[in-house]
Amino acid sequence: MIMQAQFITVEGGEGVGKSSNIAFILSYLKDKGIDVVSTREPGGTELSEKIRDVLLDAKNKSMVSDTELLLMFAARAQHLAVLIKPSLKKGKWVLCDRFTDATYAYQGGGRGIPMQRIAILEDWVQGELRPDLTILLDLPVEIGMQRASERSAPDRIEQEKNNFFEAVRQSYLKMAADSPQRYRVIDASQTLEQVQKDIAAVLDEYIQ
Ligand code: TMP
Repeated sequence: MIMQAQFITVEGGEGVGKSSNIAFILSYLKDKGIDVVSTREPGGTELSEKIRDVLLDAKNKSMVSDTELLLMFAARAQHLAVLIKPSLKKGKWVLCDRFTDATYAYQGGGRGIPMQRIAILEDWVQGELRPDLTILLDLPVEIGMQRASERSAPDRIEQEKNNFFEAVRQSYLKMAADSPQRYRVIDASQTLEQVQKDIAAVLDEYIQ
């Protein structure tokens, strides 16, 4: 059993099944007796959720990429200070639905903001803190967008075109290839049962 509290993030494009798989991870870790806090980005604290509302509101059509980038990191700074760091310090594991890799994928890959600029903000806001494990749920864009559209009306970011989400997907796959020790890529086009088997195998390898 890893005794030091771990910071686990779950990433992927739209409609890859993050919510149901995060619920699975949470109950899997709890069943192993691990004290874990589940949270999300953008969001996770009262103030960060307000920033999330601004970011995702489909009416905010005039938002430029730098505003979007800085609001993501503003929400993250608050989330780190109020929830993530205090939880890890108390020995609780943190399971986070998206984190800074989403900024590299969406604002970097999708919007075209230079990755180096994002890295400066990452160092500034996070210091040395990085996730210990990142589970990437990978799915072809068309399937994910179809699933997401069946769920709810598209928010501001979901209204982007498929080439935006293709760039997001490729950015995630590149990060996974560049950081194989931190990343585990799961084929999310499989049945939910098989996806969860694969996730459990990752967690087992990790916990023991
Ligand atoms: P969600 O739908 O997974 O809750 O995520 C909200 C949206 O925010 C999703 O379209 C991805 C996007 N996002 C970014 O663009 N950059 C980020 O840094 C984060 C955390 C999310």
